[in-house]
Amino acid sequence: MAERRYTEQETALEIKSLRRIVAAYFNYQDAAEKDVRRYERSFKMLSPAHKELLFHLGLKYQRLRWCISMNASFVMNMLEAFDPPFDMSQNEDGDCHDCAEHMHGHNHADCAHSSERSDFSKSVVTTNNSALHAQHDCPREDAKSNACCGEAGNKKDEKVHIVGCSQPAVPNLGTSQGVDKSCHGGEDASAAANYHDTDCFASSTDENATPGHNMPPDFHLDVPPVDVDKVRCIIRNIVRDWAQEGQIERDECYKPILEELNRLFPDRSRPPSCLVPGAGLGRLALEISSLGFVSQGNEFSYYMMICSNFILNHTQEANECTIYPWIHSNCNSLSDNDQLRPVSFPDIHPSSAGITEGFSMCAGDFVEVYSEKSQESAWDAVVTCFFLDTAHNIVEYIEIISKLLKDGGVWVNMGPLLYHFADSYGPDDDMSIELSLEDVKRVAYHYGFVLEVEKMIDTTYTANMASMMQNRYRAAFWTMRKDASRSKAKKCQ
Ligand SMILES: C[S@@+](CC[C@H](N)C(=O)[O-])C[C@H]1O[C@@H](n2cnc3c(N)ncnc32)[C@H](O)[C@@H]1O
Repeated sequence: MAERRYTEQETALEIKSLRRIVAAYFNYQDAAEKDVRRYERSFKMLSPAHKELLFHLGLKYQRLRWCISMNASFVMNMLEAFDPPFDMSQNEDGDCHDCAEHMHGHNHADCAHSSERSDFSKSVVTTNNSALHAQHDCPREDAKSNACCGEAGNKKDEKVHIVGCSQPAVPNLGTSQGVDKSCHGGEDASAAANYHDTDCFASSTDENATPGHNMPPDFHLDVPPVDVDKVRCIIRNIVRDWAQEGQIERDECYKPILEELNRLFPDRSRPPSCLVPGAGLGRLALEISSLGFVSQGNEFSYYMMICSNFILNHTQEANECTIYPWIHSNCNSLSDNDQLRPVSFPDIHPSSAGITEGFSMCAGDFVEVYSEKSQESAWDAVVTCFFLDTAHNIVEYIEIISKLLKDGGVWVNMGPLLYHFADSYGPDDDMSIELSLEDVKRVAYHYGFVLEVEKMIDTTYTANMASMMQNRYRAAFWTMRKDASRSKAKKCQ
């Protein structure tokens, strides 16, 4: 694949976009604290009798603060581990609000459709993966992709490492914080949040110990609420992909895909290749790798990549980190303890998961990265899970998937059609092609796909299992096989 060079303007935009995302992470704690202060203001408005009745709420707010500070500690660890693909000291004007043209905010009821194009608006960094790709028949033929890929080895306990993102993270982001109890001390942390209320008072008063304290001034931005929401969604995505609590959701979404791949490729002595566009936090791509595929996750969100990098490459053992994912909503809780319950992760140690050599995470826009000539007929399988409806133009996604696959290759899909850009009324008037399932299948047939398996699967996306409200999808699952001889596309060209 030919190396893609970026103009100064493109690089500047990328840096701005990334700075905005880092700022959102940095401001996580401040934003959450603001919410708690709002609860307290409402509490103060109560009559003395009502206050007395709800006396315990004061304590709850302190516990909330403590949970927020634990989440913030985790966020700071994550940022420290992130090696940005650019020198972040460039473009230090700090005002990222005009990056909004790359953002398409939507307020859906859950996080399923809130990870928008905020991020690798162009695929960004050249990386040299030649050794791994050549050695293990990774479908990306040319070592020099135009994206930033993280490669994982397959030896047990071997550290999974990212290559290609070359700029030093810590000095540039200035995130060197000493404090952290959210990882490597999770059990104590969870006990404190739920039961040791006095500790909560103590820790919340120690402001110097809070992670945002040493934040470089240029990251003290007035972060738009939509960005704050995204950080909270990432925290929920951690539960979906990497916590024991997410197992039910993973069994509903990922298990049918894994079983199908297992059925379709019974002989994996020479590992088949599988691409997972819109890989989120990488669990599905990792499971596919563990199943015996040369698996590549593709993801364009820096929010996601910063987090998956931490989990895949920087965790040392199962359940070493603890977060409090559900603290940001007081609604639909059966009890305060439900809302404040800790969740530890990762439920498995990723680099001990028996991954197949050649596992990688590739950063960049699916359309840009995989439209490359070198990607044509490169993959045995493409797996899309809650991804198709992220398209501006779903026809383009399907056309690219068809081109990527070898003749006879399979496309396994699972997900709804909640088109991400369906209600974007931004100044850009984004394109959004919104097709019914029937039309999606018709387009797929046009590009030479033959339907082999089709069913509907009930599932949730980043749901809080203890909540009184559950949004469920009737997601479409299918397996389609590419039969190039049936494609009408080439006949039209
Ligand atoms: C709804 S999430 C699903 C994540 C994961 N597949 C799962 O099931 O948990 C959709 C993901 O696709 C990513 N995404 C959206 N458009 C993309 C694009 N054009 N290229 C690469 N990733 C994209 C988003 O950032 C997000 O992580």
